[in-house]
Amino acid sequence: MTPLPPLAQIPPQIAAVADYETYARERMSPAAWAYFSGGAADELTLRDNVEAFQRLKLQGRVLREVVGGDTRLSLLGEEFDYPILLAPVAFQTLAHRDGELAAVVGASAMKAGMVVSTQSGITLEEIAQAAQTRLWFQLYLQPDRDFTAELAKRAEAAGYRALVVTVDAPVNGARNREQRAGFALPAGVEAANLRGLHVPPQTATAGGSPLFGTALLDHAPTWRDVAWLRSTTSLPIVLKGVMSADDAAAAVEAGAAGVIVSNHGGRTLDTLPATIDALPAVVRAVDGRIPVLLDGGIRRGTDVLKALALGADAVLVGRPYVHALASAGAVGVAHVLHLLRAELEMAMALTGCRTLADIDRGILWNPPPL
Ligand code: FNR
Ligand code: LAC
Repeated sequence: MTPLPPLAQIPPQIAAVADYETYARERMSPAAWAYFSGGAADELTLRDNVEAFQRLKLQGRVLREVVGGDTRLSLLGEEFDYPILLAPVAFQTLAHRDGELAAVVGASAMKAGMVVSTQSGITLEEIAQAAQTRLWFQLYLQPDRDFTAELAKRAEAAGYRALVVTVDAPVNGARNREQRAGFALPAGVEAANLRGLHVPPQTATAGGSPLFGTALLDHAPTWRDVAWLRSTTSLPIVLKGVMSADDAAAAVEAGAAGVIVSNHGGRTLDTLPATIDALPAVVRAVDGRIPVLLDGGIRRGTDVLKALALGADAVLVGRPYVHALASAGAVGVAHVLHLLRAELEMAMALTGCRTLADIDRGILWNPPPL
């Protein structure tokens, strides 16, 4: 693995995850910025993901013994040093020349798990070769199911430990910010894993139904496809994009090994609730049978703590590490992971939690009702 320059080279002005935003923006075209930072429609969900964490208050606890604390956990039968993973984000070669290769070096340096997008700019095999950490593969079921099965096999062969099936985006959201900025993938940025894939035409006839009139929804995945996928792979399947108690219960029923409470970072259906607000009902429905993860709006270690207090086993971050990737490559990604982990440990110490097992609703001031 390429050794990282020391994190001490990061200028002191970058003291928190959000500080990377300004630097990232300066290093991208306005259209690329609109792609990475934007959300769907009026971006209410995008904003609410962050604001809902800010609304939730902590209950400080003093004089509790926290000697010898740690942040270890086990997830899908494997040990992790801390409960923060990199979320799948497409086309990272648009953010940085080395794209996912730089991200995975940063994740490896910090021993963080990384979920690699189906639409990564670098092939899943090349990313796996550069990795010295656990990788999960995010799978979008393609209209061509044979191609999809082949993709899952490739991930398994390359050493990925789980398939994260994203179920909340059978169609893109109304990406108005991207549209206004005229976003299109520039030459040289492509979904490297999908070379050779035939995508059915998605244009509707004039005057016809704009979406139901296209092939897009004919191929949208259903619970039947989850059963089918289970029959084609021995990897555990995690469903990403579960926001309701009923879907969470159905996920357990369907044999999912985990669920991720996610609204796609506010990029698909606007006015969905913030993920931290949707979490308690999912946790209740799952009732400890499989792990529950959460992403969306995590910008601080205290956000991680709050998610765990409401029953998440671990969290993922998306934009924070992409901003750092665009600003400072692998070092930036490692730095963001370091910052979040350090803030989490500080927050644990100040709420009297020695291990993740100590984190519960008791550390929230006025927690939402069960
Ligand atoms: C995403 N996300 C995403 N999810 C997924 O399952 N497959 C993908 O290819 C992508 N691509 C993608 C691109 C960009 C630019 C963003 C910002 C997000 C969603 C991602 O995994 C995650 O759910 C959110 O990013 C979490 O919210 P935060 O941390 O960005 O607030
Ligand atoms: C996105 C798709 C790639 O959010 O998931 O841009």
